[in-house]
Amino acid sequence: MNGSLSAPGADWSSVSTAAVLRSQLKRLLVGGAEIALERKAPALRDKLLDIDDFGLYLHIPFCRQICPYCPYNKELYHAEVAQRYARAVMREVDIYAAMVGAKPVTSLYIGGGTPTTMLYNGLPQILEHIHRSFNMQCDVHMESHPNDLSWENLNAILSLGVRHLSTGMEAVQDRHLRTLHRPYTAEQGRAAVLRAVDSGFRCVNADIIFALPQQTYAEVEEAGQALVAMGVDQVAAYPLFQFPYTRWDQVNGNGKGFSLLQKRNMLRILEGIFYDAGFERTSVWAFTRQGVPKYCSVTVPLYIGLGASGGSYLRDVFYLNTFNVGEYMQALEKGTLPIALSLQLSERMQMAGWLYWRVYETRFKRSDFLRRFGKAFDRVYGRYIRLLSWLGLLRDRGDEIVLTDSGAYWLHVLQDLFSIDYISKLWGTSKQDPWPARVVL
Ligand SMILES: C[S@@+](CC[C@H](N)C(=O)[O-])C[C@H]1O[C@@H](n2cnc3c(N)ncnc32)[C@H](O)[C@@H]1O
Ligand code: SF4
Repeated sequence: MNGSLSAPGADWSSVSTAAVLRSQLKRLLVGGAEIALERKAPALRDKLLDIDDFGLYLHIPFCRQICPYCPYNKELYHAEVAQRYARAVMREVDIYAAMVGAKPVTSLYIGGGTPTTMLYNGLPQILEHIHRSFNMQCDVHMESHPNDLSWENLNAILSLGVRHLSTGMEAVQDRHLRTLHRPYTAEQGRAAVLRAVDSGFRCVNADIIFALPQQTYAEVEEAGQALVAMGVDQVAAYPLFQFPYTRWDQVNGNGKGFSLLQKRNMLRILEGIFYDAGFERTSVWAFTRQGVPKYCSVTVPLYIGLGASGGSYLRDVFYLNTFNVGEYMQALEKGTLPIALSLQLSERMQMAGWLYWRVYETRFKRSDFLRRFGKAFDRVYGRYIRLLSWLGLLRDRGDEIVLTDSGAYWLHVLQDLFSIDYISKLWGTSKQDPWPARVVL
C-alpha cells in the first residue's frame, strides 16, 4: 500500500521510550492536561436528563477459577455472595431507572468475570428486573465460559433473551490451554463452541489469544482455520497482554514474549484466513462473517455500567464503581450508588475519546462528529487524518473514514503502549483500594 508503515522488529524494550511516546501522544490528544480520577460522585440527575438514549453494561465479577493472565475484576464464585450481589444490582437498577425514566436502552452487554456462573442463581432475576425497569430496545449480548455451554445451559441462556453469545475458547491446542491454566481440553472447547453455533444465536463469537509462549506461526494458522471450520460468526483475536498486576509474570517468569514484528505476522496470518473465509474486520480485534450482526461490547457513545467495577460514560463525565464486591453490595444496601472515582472530561478529552472508540470500530463518519460536537471534524483532526491517510493507516472516503489493516495493527501497538498502562494504573489501584482518593493516569 502506498506509503504504508511497517512495524519495527523490536518490542518497547525501553521503559523510557514508551513513557516519552505516551506523554507525546497525551499532549496531542488532550493537550498534556493531567488526567486524574477523583473520589467525587458526579451530579447524575442533570447529566441523565441531557441524554436521549444509552447503553447498559452489567458486570458479573465471579469465576469458577482464576486464570493467571486475566486483568478483569473477578473473584471466586460463591452461591450466597452471588445471591446478595443480584439483590444489590437490582437496587442499582432502581436508582438509575428513577432518573432515566422511559429513555430507550439501545444495547445491553453482560460481561465479567464469567456471567454464566450466575445463570441459575441471580441472572434471570436481574434481567427480568432490567426489562421491567428500563425501556429496553435491544438484544442482549453476553460472555460465557466454554465449560458452561451444555445444551441445557445454552437453552437457559437463550431463554434469558441473549441473542449474541461470546465464549472464551482462547486456544485450540492442548499445550496452550494448559499454559493458560484453562480447565478444558481443545476437544471439549471445540465441542462447546459447536453446540453454541448450533443453538440458534444471531451471532456466536469466540475469543482466542495469540502470541502465547512458544507459539508457532503454524499453530496460529491452525487456530484461525479451526475457528472458521467450527462455523463461528465472529472471532475476537487478542495478542496476549501482560498486565503487571496479574499473576502471569510470576507463573511464566520468562517475561517478554514476541516482538512487534512477530505479533504483526501472526495477526496477518489470522487476517488472511478470516478474509478468505468471507469475514470482515468489525473492530480492531474482531472479524465478523459478512451479513451477521456483530457481537459487540460497550462502544456505544453513552452508557451506564452496573455492578462492581462497572464504568459509565455520560458525555462529559466518566465514572467507575468500586471494584470491591463487598463494598459494592454494602453501598447499595445503604441505598447509595457505589461510585468510587470520576473524571470530568474537557471537550478535547471527549473528542479524543469519541475518536478512539470510533476508530476502534474501524470506521466512522465526519457527519456524526459534527452532530455530536457541533464542530467540523476536519477543523479539529483534519491534518492528522491527511497524514494517517498518506501513511496508509486510514482510507478517506468522503464522509466516511475507514481504518486499514495497517492502521488496525498500529492501533494494537498504541494499545500496548497506552491503554495497558492506563488500565494497569486504574484497575490495579482499584483492585487494591475499594475507594481510592485519586488515580492519576
Ligand atoms: C471475561 S473473559 C471471557 C469469558 C470467560 N470469563 C472466559 O474466560 O471464558 C474475556 C476475554 O478477554 C480475553 N483476555 C483476558 N485476559 C487477557 C490477556 N491478558 N490478554 C489478552 N486477552 C485476554 C480472553 O480472550 C477472554 O476470553
Ligand atoms: S479469563 Fe475468564 S474465567 Fe479466567 S479469570 Fe478472567 S474472566 Fe475469569
